[in-house]
Amino acid sequence: MKVSVIGCGYLGAVHAAAMAELGHEVVGIDVDQRKIDALAAGKAPFFEPGLPEILTSASASGRLTFSTDPAAAADATVHFIAVGTPQKPGSYSADMTYVDAAVDGLLPYLKDGDLVVGKSTVPVGTAARLAEKVKSAVPGADLAWNPEFLREGFAVKDTISPDRLVYGVSSDPAIAAASQAVLDEVYAKALSEDTPLVVTDYATAELVKVSANAFLATKISFINAIAEIADVTGANVTELADAIGFDARIGRRFLNAGIGFGGGCLPKDIRAFGARAEELGRGESLAFLKEVDSINLRRRQHVVDLTVDLLGGQAYNKRVAVLGLAFKPDSDDIRDSPALDIAVQLNGLGALVTATDPEAIGNAQAKHPQLHFVESIAEAVQGADIVLLLTEWKQYRGILPADIDGLVAGKTIVDGRNVLDSATWREAGWNYRAMGRP
Ligand code: UDX
Repeated sequence: MKVSVIGCGYLGAVHAAAMAELGHEVVGIDVDQRKIDALAAGKAPFFEPGLPEILTSASASGRLTFSTDPAAAADATVHFIAVGTPQKPGSYSADMTYVDAAVDGLLPYLKDGDLVVGKSTVPVGTAARLAEKVKSAVPGADLAWNPEFLREGFAVKDTISPDRLVYGVSSDPAIAAASQAVLDEVYAKALSEDTPLVVTDYATAELVKVSANAFLATKISFINAIAEIADVTGANVTELADAIGFDARIGRRFLNAGIGFGGGCLPKDIRAFGARAEELGRGESLAFLKEVDSINLRRRQHVVDLTVDLLGGQAYNKRVAVLGLAFKPDSDDIRDSPALDIAVQLNGLGALVTATDPEAIGNAQAKHPQLHFVESIAEAVQGADIVLLLTEWKQYRGILPADIDGLVAGKTIVDGRNVLDSATWREAGWNYRAMGRP
């Protein structure tokens, strides 16, 4: 199929490359010249495992091109909208500017028979509104909503072999059938592998996405709330999570207590979902998401307070080593990163923060040049009064006391992700502190 992907960020760049990898002829379009230049040269503009490989193979096949010109979409018949919907400044709502601009920019090049496919995470009601816009500009074109569920770090796999597909289609049965036929062809490979498919209306498709993220955020905040109770009772939240996770109705995944969730999706999506519910007169239905958000933000404050406490009540001029800046491992994304937030807060309290991360230093430095960044664990912990492990990269999970014993000034470590073995550290003479775990 001839496909355009409008928006080449964490979602769109992967989607474009994956669609080409699946055999479609794809043009990726973005307003950011720098991003397009990198992608056109086969370089991923951000860190995502597996993306460079599929970019190279898709570009070599001639099936993947990039452009900053919306007119490049003219040859395609399927147009994915993959631009961001960040939190609006000064509000909890989603900023729809980019989605509207993407659709408006596409309208002059749409033809009868084309299908516009929304992938961005949007407030419920958006698809119906955009479908009207498309229909009134080009009566023979249609719109479907096809939310993505990709996780950064696994984005390539999640796009090529998703765990489910959701199509939100028109209430007109003939249009719905035509839209489904197009999407079935786009996703022929996944469907041939028995990927579950839910075909539904626009509102449900939009809500599936935000509900999934709200559920995941709630699961994390639930276990973090239990971690707070574990902290004051001496219980072990990791063993507790293992025990409740054996119940298949609960499940063990997304029950890792720590410094909480961040990233470009969960935090802003729960806020936008709550804001939309209020617009719909159902604010109380999602009022609990405010609590989910508060529990989450409290985790960051808890680590800041704990660090100050462990430093003797004063962070000023103390050397703090921060291991990890990305919002999660295998990503260079620092959007709403709890790790970076903690580093910045401690710096604000006068601590001398030296931070490292395998991939996110460039992004962190651009946003917070006031922090001191170094490339290696050894440089980060050199002379440190306290070490904070804040993003559970593989290289940090494997640290042993002997690796850094001789470098630090004080043997105190805060394991913000509960990934180190407490006994090993204590036996080596460290003051080891974890999250909801003795
Ligand atoms: C999320 C959803 O998982 C994905 O389906 C959706 O499409 C986009 O949002 P992503 O933002 O890539 O994906 O990250 P995810 O793996 O969900 O992790 C989110 C945050 O939760 C991270 O900061 C992570 O460290 C944290 N987390 C995750 C926990 O604190 N504990 C856990 O048990 C799991």
